[in-house]
Amino acid sequence: MPAKDIAELLACRFGEVPELAPEVAGVPLAEALAGRASCRAFAPRPVDVALLRSLAALALCAPSKSDLQQADIVLATDPELRAALAATVPGQAWVAGTPALLVVCGNNRRQRQVSEMRGREFANDHLDAFFNAAVDGGIVLATLVLAAEAAGLGACPISGLRDRPEEVSDLLGLPAHVFPLAGLALGYPVREGRISPRLPLEVTVHENRWSEAGTAGRMAAYDARRRELQPYASQRGLDRFGEVSDYGWLEDKARQYAEPQRADFGAFVRRRGFRLD
Ligand SMILES: Cc1cc2nc3c(=O)[nH]c(=O)nc-3n(C[C@H](O)[C@H](O)[C@H](O)COP(=O)(O)O)c2cc1C
Repeated sequence: MPAKDIAELLACRFGEVPELAPEVAGVPLAEALAGRASCRAFAPRPVDVALLRSLAALALCAPSKSDLQQADIVLATDPELRAALAATVPGQAWVAGTPALLVVCGNNRRQRQVSEMRGREFANDHLDAFFNAAVDGGIVLATLVLAAEAAGLGACPISGLRDRPEEVSDLLGLPAHVFPLAGLALGYPVREGRISPRLPLEVTVHENRWSEAGTAGRMAAYDARRRELQPYASQRGLDRFGEVSDYGWLEDKARQYAEPQRADFGAFVRRRGFRLD
């Protein structure tokens, strides 16, 4: 694929053509990253368990903090389990139609088992234990998405599975110090994905020193560009906030976080045995 195509994809993503180093130009992974999109509509075609296992293997090749390997993947191959998991996110009807569903878990249990196996004290029972497992899980999730997309599948993470984390943990039989990080819906896409525009790189990439100079204006320009390219089909929280003419990413995210979300997640994590101090 010629470099121009990657440049076009990145221009659509960021609203500008970033400088493209020759090392990335024409690289298939670069093109795949530049053009990727989440997928929530799948063809009624099953995904082989062998493919799911291959994707899990590839995802678990991702880097891992201190080589601790604190992420696990549960393949929900049983249709009844899939339906039960989908039922925990009733607000996302599309999840029920996903041909394959995986759950990525953060796992700090194994490290505690390792300490026990070697008769050593586990002297790190604090926030970092949870945080490291969550970071490892996030990296595995992202790698799963990229591996799946490279194999021709569509993918969409589902943090909605954390709306009822206790129920999900029970369904999967998760032990203490293991927690569901996110689901991952997989299947063959019914249509080509649509690039979701990202904030301008001047806002999100800093060199040497953090800078917010010009950020507000750039975010407003991003909002306008995104409204133009991909207007929201509906406005959140109409009863509370009413309808506005300039509804876009800024208003959507501001409204989203004006409502408490998963305020009890910390309590759930503590019940899984983590100390968060
Ligand atoms: C950790 C994580 C959780 C997500 N959870 C959901 C979800 O519950 N439902 C959903 O429809 N999309 C979910 N997404 C997908 C995001 O909405 C999507 O990545 C974002 O809108 C950007 O779109 P893109 O992936 O097409 O670039 C999640 C993504 C991530 C990384």
